[in-house]
Amino acid sequence: MNHILSASQFNKGLIYKILLSAKKMETALNKGRVTKKLHDKIVACLFFEPSTRTRLSFETAVLRLGGQVIGMENGSVSSSAFKGESIPDTIKIVHGFADLIVMRHPQNGSAEVAAKTSKVPIINAGDGGNEHPTQSLLDLYTIKQETGRLENLTFTMVGDLLYGRTIHSTLTMLSLYPKNKFIFVAPKQLKLPEKYKAMLKNRKVSFKETENLAEGLKFADVIYMTRVQKERFSSKAEYEKLKLAYVFDAESLKQIKKSAVILHALPRVGEIAEVVDKDPRAAYFRQAQNGLYVRMALLQYALGLM
Ligand code: NCD
Repeated sequence: MNHILSASQFNKGLIYKILLSAKKMETALNKGRVTKKLHDKIVACLFFEPSTRTRLSFETAVLRLGGQVIGMENGSVSSSAFKGESIPDTIKIVHGFADLIVMRHPQNGSAEVAAKTSKVPIINAGDGGNEHPTQSLLDLYTIKQETGRLENLTFTMVGDLLYGRTIHSTLTMLSLYPKNKFIFVAPKQLKLPEKYKAMLKNRKVSFKETENLAEGLKFADVIYMTRVQKERFSSKAEYEKLKLAYVFDAESLKQIKKSAVILHALPRVGEIAEVVDKDPRAAYFRQAQNGLYVRMALLQYALGLM
């Protein structure tokens, strides 16, 4: 079995295998010919934080592969977590029922904690403001699909780089590929944590930080917009001040390359204007759809069936 806990556990070889398998899943689904590899499997989806895309794409992936799903979409109020049950205790119960556990939890490091106890694979579907590795694999799938490559690209990452877990995981994977460059656009209060900058320096990856969106947009091959993560703020006033620090709008479309690709893990709450959606460079809805194919591949990888 393979836990999926962090982007740092993936090398280029493994990423290649997963993206290839995801492509096969896409083709098989389109032909209506998916092998029911999970026919005897039960997957538990334990969500202690809100989710639309991640939970529903995981559940759809299980069902398309012939498996069955149990779980909770509102775990922090509907499960024994509300009564104060610890993560290890919950896992000790659920691993006796299910063959794999997909978990989203507000606490940083919660997936690691679950994996220490679990007899079945744990997939981290987001642990607080820390990581979201399965989102990153669908991000890479989308980048490959839209640009034809994963290397020699300039990525401009915009918004909440402090709490944005998709950013942390996605840049960790993208920095494995040669000649990639990063431009980080964030307000002072939401800058990328030092540990990721140290990782980039260590890997000799070139990056730059700025508060100026226009400066970041000009050179970008891929623009990765993010939502300011309201749920991580202790002060509502501070969130209100920062929530629309950067808005990608019709004007921004004029500033980017003809070949640029615009990504967002979604949900958006104003940081990409709806007028942008009809531009062919807006790839975020295609990106969300790709989540299904990538998660079909990841379920098989985690269960040792890939
Ligand atoms: C992201 C998340 O939950 O981190 N959403 C997602 O999984 N598609 C991004 C976000 O909530 O801003």
